[in-house]
Amino acid sequence: MGMVENIASLRADQRFADTDHWASFGAQWASGDSKRIECLSVVDETHDVKTFVFQCPDYPALAYEPGQFLTVSPVIDGQSVSRCYTLSSTPTRPFTFSITVKRVPGGAVSNWLHDHLKAGSALAASGPAGIFTPVAAPARKLLYLSAGSGVTPLMAMTRAAADLHADLDIVFVHSARTPKDIIFREELARLERALPNLRTLFFCEGLGDEPHWQGPLGRLSADELQRQIPDFKEREVFTCGPKGYMDATKALLGNAGFDLGRYHQESFDINAEEVLEALAEPAGAGQAQDTFTVRLARSGKVFTMTPDQTVLSAAKKAGAVVPSSCSQGVCGTCKTAVLEGTVEMKHNGGIRQREIDKGLRLLCCSRPTSDLVVDL
Ligand code: FES
Repeated sequence: MGMVENIASLRADQRFADTDHWASFGAQWASGDSKRIECLSVVDETHDVKTFVFQCPDYPALAYEPGQFLTVSPVIDGQSVSRCYTLSSTPTRPFTFSITVKRVPGGAVSNWLHDHLKAGSALAASGPAGIFTPVAAPARKLLYLSAGSGVTPLMAMTRAAADLHADLDIVFVHSARTPKDIIFREELARLERALPNLRTLFFCEGLGDEPHWQGPLGRLSADELQRQIPDFKEREVFTCGPKGYMDATKALLGNAGFDLGRYHQESFDINAEEVLEALAEPAGAGQAQDTFTVRLARSGKVFTMTPDQTVLSAAKKAGAVVPSSCSQGVCGTCKTAVLEGTVEMKHNGGIRQREIDKGLRLLCCSRPTSDLVVDL
């Protein structure tokens, strides 16, 4: 039986968590491959969140898994700056794709996108990547927990489940500052009416300008978790939001007796642009210890670095322009050949074995174990 017949024989909820199913929608755009993408439209979601809808001229239909992200690299003040944004669109509608971006105070890329990207604009982007998808952990009973713009991967999964008519039991809990900050509020309400096994729950920290808001106020607490979702221990949990939110959520679940082996969270802090930069610098960097010498083959720059620094952060400190995005070894943006010397690399799926065999490394998660010559 061929792959297509195999997929057709799967139930919708099985297809939801099947990697071949998502690959069958169109051409796969390899992660780390840069392409030109064109903006088709811009949609205002809330007062500080916009959705940007794109197409890629090289791929009439794009294949990805719901929950994966794209790395966009606009040129800002003459410099290419990269950031990861989850695809908020569903791969079940593969002819266009979208990212949904919250304007972050001081955030270089989010502000540039909000202020400059219009229908008809183009920019560079690297192919879909990421392991925060249903394929990672097939399950029928799901608990989605999100805060702020962390709603995007879970929205992509919910849209995909709806389009597939997948027999999934989803509780979608989203936390926002005020009711008017709830992203996709109307669409989630509509999906809830359409899908018998989808339940949404919005927690707001304050009322804002909606004094008649009837939903729960404050944050998700152990009591609320037990009261609102009494079967939470039977569910596979997917969480996305600011780091503080994810840390608190994980602790809350762990303390409530949830099996954290069934807990999944996005591995980087979406939209927290300043946090991404901070992640590049490990604790303890700068303390006196042995150093290695690194030479950048193209620019001729030479600098020294300690073994606890990543090659990416040391090269940036030395003034090298290195494309990077997730800083977590996921997106593949910082993939570079190490021409001489050795590094210890702990990646999270952003590089393939055949690329490693060719001498490529992800500099954001590589630390030197000898002097180096790098292809920069
Ligand atoms: Fe994403 Fe290095 S910056 S893998």
